[in-house]
Amino acid sequence: MDKFVVRGGRPLYGTLDVSGSKNTALALMAAGLLADGKTTIRNVPALRDIYTFSRVIKVTGAGVEFDEADHRLEIDGATASKTVAPYELVKRMRASFYMLGALLGRFGKARVSLPGGCAWGPRPVNLHMEGMEALGASIDLEDGYVVATAPSGRMPGGVFELNPSSVGATINLLLGAVTASGGSRIDNAAKEPDVVDFCRMLQRMGARIDGVGTRTLEIEGVDALSPVDWTNSPDRIEAGTFMIAAAIAGRVGETISVRGVNIDHLGKPFMDAMKGTGVGLSIDGDTVAITRPTTLKPISVRTDVFPGFPTDLQAQWTVLLACAEGNARIRDTVYLDRFKHIPELRRMNMNAIVMDGEVVVEGGRQLSGAHVMSTDLRASVSLVLAGMVAEGETHVLRIYHLDRGYERLEQKLCAAGADIRRVSYDEWADPEME
Ligand code: EPU
Repeated sequence: MDKFVVRGGRPLYGTLDVSGSKNTALALMAAGLLADGKTTIRNVPALRDIYTFSRVIKVTGAGVEFDEADHRLEIDGATASKTVAPYELVKRMRASFYMLGALLGRFGKARVSLPGGCAWGPRPVNLHMEGMEALGASIDLEDGYVVATAPSGRMPGGVFELNPSSVGATINLLLGAVTASGGSRIDNAAKEPDVVDFCRMLQRMGARIDGVGTRTLEIEGVDALSPVDWTNSPDRIEAGTFMIAAAIAGRVGETISVRGVNIDHLGKPFMDAMKGTGVGLSIDGDTVAITRPTTLKPISVRTDVFPGFPTDLQAQWTVLLACAEGNARIRDTVYLDRFKHIPELRRMNMNAIVMDGEVVVEGGRQLSGAHVMSTDLRASVSLVLAGMVAEGETHVLRIYHLDRGYERLEQKLCAAGADIRRVSYDEWADPEME
């Protein structure tokens, strides 16, 4: 297994480049399977989740070629014929459940493993299944698999309201609805940038979708979709992570550039919170320049669906708050209990506690290096950020979580002045006895 050894106190400088969005790319890949031909997706990050989903797609018989150096991924849906997504792959990554919509949309039937739990809670898929039933599929559960069938090979379409709004369920339902024999409506649909970009690609493929970027999506099914050449968006969560890194680990008064950012994808609450901390922040095209102030102000945040403060940035924000002067709070309204990183951060001398469903963080206390454990992707990166500002050496164990969603993270941060080494270790080795 790999870990990161982070030596703290090395100031960041220069430029950090943002890769293509992981979460958007996964949805675009699922869309690629709907076309009977070769779809090209550009700006795809070389990440573990992309490889996992490539394997899931290959199980259908479709061709998947990934030119990592060029970040170009091709899906040839012409050879797809099998309508299964097996447990062995779905258990590794929840987004594999997009195969439910993709296979129903393309073939009118699907046998997809239920994903199971995740690191910080149950993360149900009830809306995906109820929604698909509302669009006309019959759904059964067999041996841990969802078996879905559309009458006479094609879904008739229907109306479904998502409650709560869900990114994944909106994507899954769209995958099923775009080739239905009739019309559909999704109420309280997600309007996260991932969903909007995915809709735009589907429209380019020939799908008829109204209301893109709003809470109500109206879809008129079409007989077939065509393959396209599409460019993925930059990763908004990586962009936000780098902006936070620049705010806490830059030299006071010196500017760090984060390049390849779509500012609109970050949402106003995140940008306002960044500005509220007192950092210098200027935007020039797709580059955001961050200048660290003498002291950071503590800004409390509350996550919410887009354009709210992203849940995928709250663990990183905790570290920023620990570097601020004063106390502040974080509430996650999307995942009420996504706080597994807090006990690990406490091992690094952070004074943060979970109280009544929110985290209270005391700022201004010097963090110190420790051995800490990654529990999920965003928790892992918060430990790396904490390690960068801590005194001494931090060992972030189990970074396979991190490799799912940050492309060459240690290389990018080291090129900007950080000191992070990737080291193999034996998780089960006994500690040395005295
Ligand atoms: N929900 C249900 N039932 C469902 C589906 C969702 O109750 O059937 C609830 C969830 O429990 C949650 C809320 O709806 O409280 C929103 O969850 P959503 O379905 O939007 O999340 P997701 O689609 O499973 C995606 C991202 C996550 C990100 C969330 C929220 C991908 C592959 N994953 O997950 O990203 O946190 O949206 O924005 O796009 C990450 O990148 O680290 C990550 C976890």
